[in-house]
Amino acid sequence: MERAGASRLPPELNAVVELIDQYRLGWSLDQAFYNDPAIFELERRLWFPRQWSVIAHASEVDEKGRYIIRHLYGEEIVVVRFGDAADDIAAYYNVCTHRGSRLCTKDGKGRLLVCPYHAWSFKLTGELQSKQEVPEGIDPANLGLHKVATRIVGGLVLCGLDPDVLPDAQPLADAIEGGLRQQGIDRSRILVRKSYPTKANWKLVLENFSECYHCRPAHPEYFRTNGYVKVVAMRDEAAAVEWQRELDSWHSVIGDAEFKKGAWEAGGLDKVQYGMYRKPIGSGRKTLSDDGEPVSRLMGGRSEYDGGETGFRLGRLSMISSANDYATLFQMIPRSVNETDVYLTWLVDKDVDVDINPDPITWMWDVTTIQDKKITEDNADGIRSRAYRPGPYTDLEAQPAFFCQAYLGEMRELITGEKSPAPVWQFPSKGYSSQPTCAVPVS
Ligand code: FES
Ligand code: FE
Repeated sequence: MERAGASRLPPELNAVVELIDQYRLGWSLDQAFYNDPAIFELERRLWFPRQWSVIAHASEVDEKGRYIIRHLYGEEIVVVRFGDAADDIAAYYNVCTHRGSRLCTKDGKGRLLVCPYHAWSFKLTGELQSKQEVPEGIDPANLGLHKVATRIVGGLVLCGLDPDVLPDAQPLADAIEGGLRQQGIDRSRILVRKSYPTKANWKLVLENFSECYHCRPAHPEYFRTNGYVKVVAMRDEAAAVEWQRELDSWHSVIGDAEFKKGAWEAGGLDKVQYGMYRKPIGSGRKTLSDDGEPVSRLMGGRSEYDGGETGFRLGRLSMISSANDYATLFQMIPRSVNETDVYLTWLVDKDVDVDINPDPITWMWDVTTIQDKKITEDNADGIRSRAYRPGPYTDLEAQPAFFCQAYLGEMRELITGEKSPAPVWQFPSKGYSSQPTCAVPVS
């Protein structure tokens, strides 16, 4: 039977739709979705421009005129502070509207953005300043910089490439901005920023970030220092019962309002994904450190440690883990079909001493991300083999299974114009399931 809409498609797109239609629910993706440059090109054209991602922390452009260059889905963008108010931050494609030169070649500060080629200059708000250079009959108002959608949420700068198709970011801001402020993200500064370039398709990086089934074999340090990991890394009813006890006792300490603080939106083509959850680190540990003891100053106006970790999702490809005294921002930025730039940014309270030793603060996520880079690259290497076939997700991998279904539905809809059914969770939530444990409705 011929699929509706498919007959109108060029053969190469028809082939992708056929692959999507052959997908076996609850199994990993066909090799082409991890390896085929043509599918990456389709994603670059259709899917990436619809994604909001955290691109910077507002403190990186702390004074009017300060600008930084960032990469987003293969595009170079300039993030610039144009005024003194907290939200006075804009982003532009790093492309001059004269003949297309890169506009900024390094981070800097100035009253104007000046192109190095023929010195056209632009206001910090994007309009062309050097109007006298424009030939007669051409309206300089049409030669302003190309805007990138920008939204400031709790001190974080979110960007998306195509303002015309991006989902509204307001629900994300409404749901999690208060939580970000409570964690002190808005009044923090960057302690360390480090890249972990990973030779793997971005979906493998995301899948790995979304499950903790691998945490027992791959992350001995993380496994040892987090009570919850013991539950989500094994099908272990006893550990689940023990964890529930830990949750109940934390609940009684922090109170109902704090315990139930959470939000979740799975997202889609017309909805931005976001999430927020709180959980105890466990075993009386105050923070995510080697011995569980504090490693920095308390954030967010707290007066004491409650031993919790707050997790945030901001769009599909940005996450935050926030302990009481430091936060770690994770950014996944696809570079090519088999390269993904993974950035970790450690945030501490802005008043933390500049001489603080960063090593105890970065230890947990640095050691874990080095391990993640290795296992994800091994995963990518195996998938390149002619022997690779999709494999089954287990109930400890409910999130990657959900993502694959959502991603394929969205790609199909973008290619064919036909509405795809909403994805559904395929694994029941159990005590040891891989979903965040507190206050996050997932079904
Ligand atoms: Fe920028 Fe000519 S290309 S001024
Ligand atoms: Fe991991």
